[in-house]
Amino acid sequence: MSNQETIPGPCHFVIFGATGNLATIKLLPCLYNLEAAGRIPGDMSILALGRQDHTHESWLEHLHKVLQDKFGNKVDPAIAARFAKRFAYMSGDLREADFYQRLKDKLAEPREGSCSNIVFYLSIIPKDFNTVINFLDEYGFSQPRGLHRIVVEKPFGTDLETAQQLNRSLHKHFDEEQIYRIDHYLGKETVQNLLVYRFANTLIEPLWNRNYINHVQITVAEDFGIGTRADYYDKSGGAMRDMLQNHLMQLLTVVAMEPPATMEADAVRDEKVKVLKSLRIIPEDKVTDHVVRAQYTAGTAKGQPVHGYMDEPGVDPESATETFVAAKFYIDNWRWRGVPFYLRTGKRLAKTESSISIRFRHPPQHLFHNEELDHIEPNWIHLLLQPTEHMNMEMHVRAPGLGMNTRTVALNASYRQAEDEKPLEAYQALLLDVIRGDKTLFIRFDEVEWAWRVVDPIIKAWAKTKSDVQGYPAGTWGPEAPQIFDCHDQEWRND
Ligand code: BG6
Repeated sequence: MSNQETIPGPCHFVIFGATGNLATIKLLPCLYNLEAAGRIPGDMSILALGRQDHTHESWLEHLHKVLQDKFGNKVDPAIAARFAKRFAYMSGDLREADFYQRLKDKLAEPREGSCSNIVFYLSIIPKDFNTVINFLDEYGFSQPRGLHRIVVEKPFGTDLETAQQLNRSLHKHFDEEQIYRIDHYLGKETVQNLLVYRFANTLIEPLWNRNYINHVQITVAEDFGIGTRADYYDKSGGAMRDMLQNHLMQLLTVVAMEPPATMEADAVRDEKVKVLKSLRIIPEDKVTDHVVRAQYTAGTAKGQPVHGYMDEPGVDPESATETFVAAKFYIDNWRWRGVPFYLRTGKRLAKTESSISIRFRHPPQHLFHNEELDHIEPNWIHLLLQPTEHMNMEMHVRAPGLGMNTRTVALNASYRQAEDEKPLEAYQALLLDVIRGDKTLFIRFDEVEWAWRVVDPIIKAWAKTKSDVQGYPAGTWGPEAPQIFDCHDQEWRND
């Protein structure tokens, strides 16, 4: 986010898990985009580490295919050739010591220039984090402190205890300034825009509290399933760990935080942590009143029949892993006490869309309607984050014609103004920040820790029974019942 170059760019960018899903769909394409934008330091090499056996040639073919799949005929052959030249590939088992000796030898190969910065990007399943961190230290990669950086993907731990262990293990070998905890939602332009929307407009901020807001909905819906990710998703993921504990909690904090003293990273994080600390903990025995979990069953996606979660390759036939979660939270502070925040996310839902919807209270006097007040649509603000990015304010105006009737109109403002303002992938911004050594958009451990404190009682309660796991047909908006709303006039906005 900042324009400052804090430390020199790395000469080696090492990707653990380079043949995995994240590298394929996000990291490699985003690095290519940075190459195209001329933002990768000229002498930076990229070392791809993976389990699959590849010769140098077959790796380059794989890379070519990854770019083709993502960009089709928009791949520029000259840029792709320049990008490919940066790569070397090394296969092996990251749980074996020999792997790190070979890594060391590879990184010690003579090269031009005197740069000694290295980025280690851990795009691997969480259960391997500790192993890799310990081996990296054992083989001397945690030094020099100022120059080597380690990027840790979410989920950071699988519960509070494992998150704390992981953090201890990181701190045993690396300084905080070397550690980059990624939540790519913070790299999304529309998420950053939320801060501007809230704190650069006097129109909004005075209404943004319990006096005017009835409730808040945060939805991150995806129409696709888990694909080939069962190994991660079924064992250490699930909608709660994979999405709600991190991405949706980050969205919640940005919606609910107080204005920071400045826009400096720590000032913003301090305010976000205050929100997380004020979240009311749901007692284990009340979890089913506040949280719904479910798995998709057979249904449709983009008009085609698709199978259910239990039939996805690699999923345990006894699995209780949720592919959908909806939860109600309260923030017990001066601004938000009593206002429910409804969060939901799921795979194989009706469409792929992320939004934040704010429902306002009814006006105190009922002047223009014959109907009961609670049948009248209140004002809403919708913030659509993706795939389209716009703000929508729903207000009442007089309906033309006889009588004093009202109707709802939407004031719609698009986030992008011109055709040439192309959306920037979140990972692109974050990868550039890692390369430049700018930590502004990365997570501090107390954010992770406080988010786990709220989520922990829920996953503990879930571990005791499977009886509450609902089903929903793929292509729908999740299970019809039970619902978690406080009032009969609250419901999910699905438009
Ligand atoms: C990842 C999750 O962190 O975020 C995925 O592991 C999810 O399961 C993805 O699909 C969503 O990211 P985005 O940027 O496409 O909304």
